[in-house]
Amino acid sequence: MAILITGIGELTTNDPELGRLHDAALVLDGGVVAWAGPAAQAPAADERVDVEGRAVLPGWVDSHTHLVFAGDRTAEFEARMAGKPYTAGGIAVTVGATREASDEQLAANLRRHVEEAAAQGTTCLETKTGYGLTVADEARSARIAATVADEVTYLGAHLVPPGADPESYVDLVCGEMLDAVVPHVRWADVFCETGAFDEAQSARVLKAAAERGLGVRVHGNQLGEGPGVRLAVELGAASVDHCTYLSDEDVEALAASDTVATLLPACDLSTRQPLAPARRLLDAGATVALASNANPGSSYTTSMAFCVTTAVLQMRMTVAEAVWSATAGGARALRRDDVGYLRPGARADVHVLDAPSATHLAYRPGVPLTHAVWRRGERMG
Ligand code: NIG
Repeated sequence: MAILITGIGELTTNDPELGRLHDAALVLDGGVVAWAGPAAQAPAADERVDVEGRAVLPGWVDSHTHLVFAGDRTAEFEARMAGKPYTAGGIAVTVGATREASDEQLAANLRRHVEEAAAQGTTCLETKTGYGLTVADEARSARIAATVADEVTYLGAHLVPPGADPESYVDLVCGEMLDAVVPHVRWADVFCETGAFDEAQSARVLKAAAERGLGVRVHGNQLGEGPGVRLAVELGAASVDHCTYLSDEDVEALAASDTVATLLPACDLSTRQPLAPARRLLDAGATVALASNANPGSSYTTSMAFCVTTAVLQMRMTVAEAVWSATAGGARALRRDDVGYLRPGARADVHVLDAPSATHLAYRPGVPLTHAVWRRGERMG
């Protein structure tokens, strides 16, 4: 059944030819966009929805979350707000709670957060393993994630479990654990940071995953400058995520590569780090994505709108750059072009704002502006 969405005050297509349209319409049919253009030229459809001058965007593409978890880290957050620094060590608390949870509890918690994100306009979401850290717990995390998320990433290399020998653990991550998750995941990731995995260990994990046919991505340069960005670029990773502390060489390497710099402003704020240098990256010509990094430790929000607002108000991105980065940029980080766009053939993932333009995302910070969402052509909520 074809649905005509008309009366669109401002339509962001992210398509270079269609651009941004005013007084526009969209036709959704069979789960994809069948037509986009001026309302006056719209074809007939079975159903007509008038959005009365509201702005319409592609659904958010959240390319970085950690939502297969159990437990709560409010106490750690409170300690941080009282001045204690964020370290990778807190991950172990979530690992303990996740191991104790049943499959049903993990799946229900994941579904609850994905639905929370969808209600705010997120229509494509990546999530990761990384709170299991045993063969059985990583495998079930991957299996559960694959039933709910659009994209699943293997992050066995999130932390060396307390008490484990680091090199033996890397052997496991590259061997038996990788074998167990491969059927459920498209990507592999590694937390390349002081306190987690060093450059050699990270390279070993990523190369083993690539040999098994997985795409690779890296958590890099979150807590200080380091080898993460360089390694990601050298290995042709789809993205390097965080990028909070970048040298000039890192920025140049990203600008000269296909590796997307995925910035996680909610995490930078929640961990009291400086905000990632979006302007330096954009001005150098790097591709930037914005993602929520939703997880119980460093960034407990599913709000992509909050990330966009922060990117504009505090990171000096324009509204157009921030919206692109949270939609098409996320898609680029996931090496997809079926989401993040509203053009014929794209997935019918539509986000209607209760505002006349996308500028209101920054102009009205903190105000919930999602009016309606379609995912694969189905109206949600
Ligand atoms: O991306 N940096 C590593 N992993 C997560 C944090 C996970 C946690 O603290 O539980 C991140 O920030």
